[in-house]
Amino acid sequence: MSHDKKISLIGAGNIGTILAFSISRKRLGNITLVDRVKGLAEGKCLDLSQSLSAENLNTKILGTDDISKIKNSHAIVITAGIPRKPGMSRDDLVETNFSIMKELGNAIKKYSPNAFVICVTNPLDAMVWSLKEITGIDKKMIVGMAGILDSARFKFFLSNELSISTDSIQTMVLGGHGDTMVPLLRFTSISGIPLSEFIKKKRISKDKVDKIISRTRNGGGEIVALMKNSSAFFSPATSAIEMLESYLFDNRRILPCSAYLEGEYNVKDMCVGVPVVISKDGVEEIIELDLQNSERNEFDNSVKAVKELVEKCRKLLA
Ligand code: NAI
Ligand code: 2OP
Repeated sequence: MSHDKKISLIGAGNIGTILAFSISRKRLGNITLVDRVKGLAEGKCLDLSQSLSAENLNTKILGTDDISKIKNSHAIVITAGIPRKPGMSRDDLVETNFSIMKELGNAIKKYSPNAFVICVTNPLDAMVWSLKEITGIDKKMIVGMAGILDSARFKFFLSNELSISTDSIQTMVLGGHGDTMVPLLRFTSISGIPLSEFIKKKRISKDKVDKIISRTRNGGGEIVALMKNSSAFFSPATSAIEMLESYLFDNRRILPCSAYLEGEYNVKDMCVGVPVVISKDGVEEIIELDLQNSERNEFDNSVKAVKELVEKCRKLLA
């Protein structure tokens, strides 16, 4: 437990609410929930505090519309922004969410420049890049959440198909958080046994695996199409907490996160999903995988899609 840690959650919508609930139950620290809608975060925190009282838990929670209350946070998770509606891609959100990142980036710079920042807002990789530029904080202290969620989806679909528990499946989805994301079969294993063995032994067909890959790529869109007025929120919150815990507890987990690259994977001045080690110092290491040609092509293609959005944001910054 780390009750002394101050965790600020900016955005008290669907993901921010689940984050606040889960963080309070896991007792990861004191929570400050901020939303620009007057009364929203305050009301949710009052309700949450009363639910904690019912369970005899004592986490301190503050709900506010005053962004200055993020002052001196240890960690900040940003979910503020607009989510997708049916028919929209994550990329359609760029201009609106960029202006929100600009406002919040300046607030972080002013009130909490030493915090570890996890961005969830879409279009993810471009928003992480924009926040890094606006806040000017060290590249180790800012990451985006996407790869853990995309990997969880891939793992879930494989688990259903193979009838094997998700906790026996390891997988890795890299690249940008968009339709071009790169689920890596070569780095997918079931208790250390490569997935290719399962394909060879006909436990699962390659065709089925390909279908699972495209379902993973469309995993967010599938949920938006069903719910109509919101996008996924349980799994994004859980995935962000994986990153938060690794930082708060110096767990040194290897997690696929959107991180700022300066030449790694031949990518410069961009944020994309790669495996990183998260410790108490933030992104302690970027793990470079030797990608094979086809993997490399897919990765480069994904980077290209991110680059277009980053260039849009660069113009908006100027
Ligand atoms: P939501 O609409 O339920 O909540 C967003 C909240 O942000 C709203 O309450 C809104 O009032 C608030 N907000 C907007 N501007 C603000 C500002 N300047 N300061 C403080 N609060 C502000 O949205 P939801 O479902 O929580 O999603 C949040 C974001 O996360 C969206 O951009 C969505 O696309 C993205 N997302 C990212 C995923 C990922 O894997 N990275 C997965 C799922 C969603
Ligand atoms: C998701 O992957 C929409 O990015 C969001 O669920």
